[in-house]
Amino acid sequence: ATYKVGYFVGSLSSKSVNRVLSRSLIRVAPKELEFTEIPIRELPLYSPDYDGDYPPEAVALKEAIGNSDAILFITPEYNRSIPGALKNAIDWASRPWGQNSFDHIPAAVIGASIGAIGTAVAQQSLRGVLSFCNARQMTAPEAYIHYSPEIFAEDGEVLQEGTAQFLGNYMSEFRDHIVRVLTVLPR
Ligand code: FNR
Repeated sequence: ATYKVGYFVGSLSSKSVNRVLSRSLIRVAPKELEFTEIPIRELPLYSPDYDGDYPPEAVALKEAIGNSDAILFITPEYNRSIPGALKNAIDWASRPWGQNSFDHIPAAVIGASIGAIGTAVAQQSLRGVLSFCNARQMTAPEAYIHYSPEIFAEDGEVLQEGTAQFLGNYMSEFRDHIVRVLTVLPR
């Protein structure tokens, strides 16, 4: 079987190291996983005033999640939390009330930073948000990626064997997590 993974890159930066990480993850992932990026850049700021009439970007967001078997979040840490653009996208997807797109969806979080803690605090924050959204999170393994251009090439090639194995294992575990969740009760 194959599984459709919709992924969010939490950075809008044209030089995003998390976008590089997303390429690396796709490269090392098991063949059963198919990836589609879910864009967040064009979303307006969420307001409940939109609930009766979502704009096209937000309709597309909810459709993309609905068409995914699982969701992967690849995000930087901003001021010890998740970037506003990503939180905004999650807020859109979680609404209107009763139509939360993340309900029961298999999900995983990962992130890279140039600093030593590798987005650990942002990931904890994101996990809290996703818990409230009732996503079925992979709790282990965790992955806090310390980014360096000696390890990650721009095109996503992983230049260090140990890191490539670590990321490959992470993605295999994510596949197993998706299979477990969807086998028990398909969405
Ligand atoms: C950062 N950065 C950062 N890094 C970190 O480890 N913890 C943090 O709390 C923050 N806070 C923060 C706030 C803001 C507004 C910016 C712009 C940056 C540094 C961050 O890890 C670095 O810019 C990464 O390169 C961001 O990831 P992308 O955008 O390259 O994927």
